[in-house]
Amino acid sequence: MKIINSILHMQALAISPERGERRISFVPTMGYLHDGHASLLREARKLADVLVLSIFVNPMQFGANEDLDKYPRDMERDFKIAEECGVDIVFIPNATEMYPNGFQTVVSVRDISMPLCGANRPGHFDGVATVVTKLFNIVRPDIALFGNKDFQQLAVIRRMTADLNLPIEIVGMPIVRERDGLAMSSRNAYLTQSERESALCLYRSILSARALFDSGERSAAVLKRTVCGIIQNEPSATIDYVEFRDAETLNDVEVIDNSTLLALAVRIGQTRLIDNMVFGEKPGF
Ligand code: PAF
Repeated sequence: MKIINSILHMQALAISPERGERRISFVPTMGYLHDGHASLLREARKLADVLVLSIFVNPMQFGANEDLDKYPRDMERDFKIAEECGVDIVFIPNATEMYPNGFQTVVSVRDISMPLCGANRPGHFDGVATVVTKLFNIVRPDIALFGNKDFQQLAVIRRMTADLNLPIEIVGMPIVRERDGLAMSSRNAYLTQSERESALCLYRSILSARALFDSGERSAAVLKRTVCGIIQNEPSATIDYVEFRDAETLNDVEVIDNSTLLALAVRIGQTRLIDNMVFGEKPGF
């Protein structure tokens, strides 16, 4: 496994004649890898000849009062997981090379970035779209994999890739959960033991909504009341949003039909967690 820090070095490899017909699959991450990342890497390993993992805690996608400085890091463990998953190249650029003095370009995906996390974290998706565009230009992948847990991020990246005619196949992978249902996230590391217990209310509330849906209820307002009720019962939980949206456009829906996203963002103590489920699943989500 090769570790590359320099942008020029990574780009030179990606466009070198030795690459030939070899296909590159790419998993961009901010490190502190868990089984969710490992599932992306294992799938990516099967889909191409060369597997590139990037680790970059992207300052541009963090707001002023967010957790950039304390974002968890463990490079040794990340390398171990990367090796186990068959990664060929770990690309770890540094922030000054990614954003040198004078950097001024922003990639902004308009409407789809606005609701949900976009409304709670202004500028977040501009940061994501900009860094992913840069990483795509550096790594030149044929295929890139992202987790469905960050559903809106995936929607933004799909839109951006289509709008900018980037010749890259975007693959979304299912949410990986702990045995008790908590969606895997690097930010779970912030939770205390009791917060970890409280955090289960996210998935519990999703499952209750799902049960109502399965019994025939189609009113978004009714399901939302159920979800909010369960979360509000947890003293350490504060709702950022609970919303039903069209899974493709992310437009608001009142009636749940084929392919409706239930998305939630909830603060457990100081830690903001997100989770989601698509109801009436259409192939492709
Ligand atoms: O999902 C993440 O880890 C990040 O948002 C990403 C896609 C690597 C961009 O920094």
